[in-house]
Amino acid sequence: MAEEKVLSVNELVINFKTDNGILKAVRNVSFDLYRGETLCIVGESGSGKSVTSKAIMGILSRNSIIEHGNIMYRGENLLEISEDQFYKIRGHKIGMIFQDPLSSLNPIVRIGKQITEATLVNNDKLKLMYNDLISDDLIRYKNVVAKMNIEIDNEKKKLDEMISVFEADKENLTGEQIAARKAELAKKKRDFKEYKKSVKIKYNDKAKQLKMVLNETEKRAKDQVNEYKNKITSEHKDKIKELKLKLSAASDLREKEKIKAEIEKENLEFVNKLKITKAEAKRRAIEIMREVGIPEPERRFKQYPFEFSGGMRQRIVIAIALTASPEILICDEPTTALDVTIQAQILELINKIKKERNLSCIFITHDLGVVANMADRVAVMYAGKIVEYGKADEIFYDPKHPYTWALLSSIPDVDSKEKLVAIPGTPPNMIYPPKGDAFAARSSYAMNIDFREEPPMFKVSDTHYAATWLLSEKAPKVEMPKIVSERIRISLEEDAK
Ligand SMILES: Nc1ncnc2c1ncn2[C@@H]1O[C@H](COP(=O)(O)OP(=O)(O)O)[C@@H](O)[C@H]1O
Ligand SMILES: [Mg+2]
Repeated sequence: MAEEKVLSVNELVINFKTDNGILKAVRNVSFDLYRGETLCIVGESGSGKSVTSKAIMGILSRNSIIEHGNIMYRGENLLEISEDQFYKIRGHKIGMIFQDPLSSLNPIVRIGKQITEATLVNNDKLKLMYNDLISDDLIRYKNVVAKMNIEIDNEKKKLDEMISVFEADKENLTGEQIAARKAELAKKKRDFKEYKKSVKIKYNDKAKQLKMVLNETEKRAKDQVNEYKNKITSEHKDKIKELKLKLSAASDLREKEKIKAEIEKENLEFVNKLKITKAEAKRRAIEIMREVGIPEPERRFKQYPFEFSGGMRQRIVIAIALTASPEILICDEPTTALDVTIQAQILELINKIKKERNLSCIFITHDLGVVANMADRVAVMYAGKIVEYGKADEIFYDPKHPYTWALLSSIPDVDSKEKLVAIPGTPPNMIYPPKGDAFAARSSYAMNIDFREEPPMFKVSDTHYAATWLLSEKAPKVEMPKIVSERIRISLEEDAK
């Protein structure tokens, strides 16, 4: 079975304007998220994990600059869609849980209201039904258009870059040189126009065809929704008419009261078919509160955040994320602020709902120890880059990057009470990211080339890659730190038992 990609981050580059200069927070990050999997992103504080997840959620701060890249979700580049559309996706199809549950809850609004809010914003059932009916074809069409635009944009960016380089150089050039550069640029512009035309032609047929299919589907969906609406409306009218006739025929007072109650019930049921009512939203909220392990949800529904413990608050945040039935759940250090026992419970809860709802999950943490029980795949981030990624087993049993070794050495071992090895030094200042392998300055395995040239992603297996010169053919053979190989040996032995 081919794995289905639900989210795809491609060549993402994000900078921040700061008083001290341009800070390079995310430096060419790419990864895919597959349906039903948990991808863990691990790295020390400051490595760019939260910035990456904020980019996906569209909540980067104002001083951010997205230099390059795209984030594809359901045929849309999330970096380019309108605020309005994003609002529908954020917290709808993609849910997020942050480190500090307090900051994502409103202290002066009752828990119940905070959980039902999202449901009540998109409460038009007929509209939801329509969107469901057209969604597959809409995505197919948008995918093609987005691909086309990305191809064109990439070329456009190159052209813009050349123009701005020229503008910057201008002062130092002679008139002749300027003329030559202008001519060169004019040619590039013409080339770009041609290129754009050719890309459009390339995609035109496919896009047209999919658009036609979409138009058909939209028409059919509209008819279907209308038909349904007419059916339930006329059924409702008939029923009311019948009841009113009965009412006027009835002579007995108790009989009359009974029929009146029936009319009321019918009216309510009819409204329930058209929209999600407050009562229904409440019922759903209580169900979800139960799902995330909140005891006495009916009573808790009316309480304020301060009446909940840290762990219970995080459960509420998870409940809020779940009300919209998201497809993707991003958890950014969801347990860092909690004490150890509560931490384990929340991790277990996330695993449980992930399985039950077949969610795709991006789980972010600085603690590789937490990852072992969560991850299907792991991406190790350092200084704004992914330096190693692979299946969880590959990262834990066959790690290749010295930074991954360092992270593995620093996991405290509960059983042996071994002293953990802190990673020496500190992460680099990302206003001046180091050349070559950014981890070199802190690594006892660094070679000369590590300080000069950036290592490419070397392939270890079809699913495992690492960016370290140690994997180059010319590199001397080195062993990973003893503490890491020992632990691997022990856990392999335990697994074999
Ligand atoms: N709004 C901001 N302005 C300037 N720098 C920022 C901003 N947000 C994050 N950064 C910087 O970007 C880098 C990555 O941060 P972040 O993604 O939060 O790291 P982490 O991996 O700990 O989540 C850090 O150097 C951080 O200081
Ligand atoms: Mg963070």
